[in-house]
Amino acid sequence: MSLARTLGIETSCDETAVAVLAGDGSVEVNLLASQAQLHAAFGGVVPELASREHLAALPWLVERALAEARAPLELVGVTAGPGLIGALLVGVRFAAAFAWARRMPMVAVDHLDGHLVSPLLDLGGAPARPIPDPTLALVASGGHSSWYLLAADGTSSRLNRTRDDAAGEAFDKLAQALGLAYPGGPVVDRLARAGDPGRFALPHPRIRDDSLDFSFSGLKSAAIRWVREAGLRGAPDGETPQEVRDLLAGFEETVVELLLAPLATLVARHRPVLLAASGGVAANTLLRRRLLERGAELGLDVRLPPPALTTDNAAMIARAGQLAFARGSRDDPRRLDAHSRQSWQPPGTRRDRATVQ
Ligand code: KG4
Ligand code: ZN
Repeated sequence: MSLARTLGIETSCDETAVAVLAGDGSVEVNLLASQAQLHAAFGGVVPELASREHLAALPWLVERALAEARAPLELVGVTAGPGLIGALLVGVRFAAAFAWARRMPMVAVDHLDGHLVSPLLDLGGAPARPIPDPTLALVASGGHSSWYLLAADGTSSRLNRTRDDAAGEAFDKLAQALGLAYPGGPVVDRLARAGDPGRFALPHPRIRDDSLDFSFSGLKSAAIRWVREAGLRGAPDGETPQEVRDLLAGFEETVVELLLAPLATLVARHRPVLLAASGGVAANTLLRRRLLERGAELGLDVRLPPPALTTDNAAMIARAGQLAFARGSRDDPRRLDAHSRQSWQPPGTRRDRATVQ
């Protein structure tokens, strides 16, 4: 089925991203201006800097995307939440002005809905795959860690959440405590490969109720305590002490174990036909391997996004927008607002996002 040719705009955090999707969901243009290096000097994202950089990057990124698009556009999809409010506002207002000036329809996209559809996208020019119904999907990023049930039309319901830190946030904070580069996830991924996960004792915190919720802050604090007690310090790749690699290996192993702990229960409850994962942490080598192994054990196909689409990008926002528009969603460019909170839901025809047990 051919859907609207869509311009996607994503500015919820520290990546300015613009993409064009053809009617069949194939990615025609996928552009990204990363601010990671800029924020690295501060050890985390500085919201005001992020907004300013989005404002500077959006005009030329969109101009380039339009020049590279193969046919005229029919729809604008923009991330309206959750995320940094100032960063979101830049994208939302830009998208609204763009849509208004061109008399083009626009839809607000939930950033999480974007991540959820990213495993179905291809960067080699193939059409987007249909979403097998139901798909059991993990989103693990710097701001979120949840399992979702995803339906063929792109609507979703959240099955659990984290009660404190997100998985990516825990990676970032441990890396920061070790003096390693920001963002921590990719660095930990690399250093943990040469580590012994059994060397440092780490807790496996579980919420003591039947919610299947996550908690990562106890694990993070325990790992940071080891950093202080053992006087650990990271260093550029080659010189990183073995102890640091061992702690990171144990930490990564535990995070992956915790993320996959609800899997068996959720599969039994919801009988999915596909297992998927997305968000920055879905770039993690160990998590990807374990998901494939567990999927095989459970007799389920596993689909992961191409590595470039695990972290924030606009192709996934364009796809979620395209699907929302096909479900009947429309937003008024004069009224569309940005929403920083996770509880926000774009209006339109969608299933309730409330926690489903
Ligand atoms: O999805 P994303 O780009 O932004 C959010 O929506 O938060 O995710 C960024 C997060 C960061 O916390 C980063 O450290 C983590 O994803 N990350 C990783 C890896 N690559 C990125 N975590 C573990 N292993 C990786 N390879
Ligand atoms: Zn994200």
